[in-house]
Amino acid sequence: MNEVIPNHVAIIMDGNGRWAQNKGLKRTKGHQKGAEVLKKISEYVYDKKIKVLSVFAFSTENWKRDKEEVDYLMDLFIKAFKENFKTIKKKGVKVVFSGVKDRLSKKVIDTMDKMQYETKDNKNGIFNICLNYGGQDEIVEATKKISTLVKDDKLNINDIDKELFSKNMFNDLPPIDLLIRTSGEYRISNFMLWQMAYAELYFTDTLWPDFNEEEFDKALDSFNKRDRRFGGVKK
Ligand code: FPP
Repeated sequence: MNEVIPNHVAIIMDGNGRWAQNKGLKRTKGHQKGAEVLKKISEYVYDKKIKVLSVFAFSTENWKRDKEEVDYLMDLFIKAFKENFKTIKKKGVKVVFSGVKDRLSKKVIDTMDKMQYETKDNKNGIFNICLNYGGQDEIVEATKKISTLVKDDKLNINDIDKELFSKNMFNDLPPIDLLIRTSGEYRISNFMLWQMAYAELYFTDTLWPDFNEEEFDKALDSFNKRDRRFGGVKK
């Protein structure tokens, strides 16, 4: 049987803290290992000719964590965006960010802007990093943009459809085909709610720092066994 390659894969990289705690290490060590795993997996994804990869790096709720952990994560993002993702750039992948900029430091924003600018014309794939992101917020923000267009007589209310909504999201991305969540949690945690409407969900007990190419292939195998009907009936 020919392998079906999903167009858009999204990952909730969960379990960094537990991985570190299980080893008697500080939670931040788990994030450090998590960043290394993301580098490897992202390269593997584009080698597999998957076009779009979305990852949940930091949610709007993650600010509730200890300042030390939040500061560590922010520094890690800067370091990873500058160093780790050079290979992604070389592969001709466009990097985009989804989320809001408030509360992010100028240093983080500048690094994000630089990455987006330097890769804006790349055509081989899209790497969507959800940072300071919430799925419900994304839908609310799109609604505000669309309502403003209607209010300013730039849009007829009857022209509001799913395509228009997609265009007004943080980024206009194709639907998610496969969602992977690590660490044995069976939740979607406010992640890409709009784009996930018909996604196949894959959950694994493996903690994100232990995730690897073989684990990714297991998710792809599982995806290949699914019968995707999109609400229809199989002929
Ligand atoms: C969830 O694990 C993970 C995060 C909140 C951070 C994800 C960040 C990375 C994988 C680092 C690299 C990312 C980029 C974009 C460079 P958790 O801390 O909630 O784990 P726990 O549930 O075991 O506590």
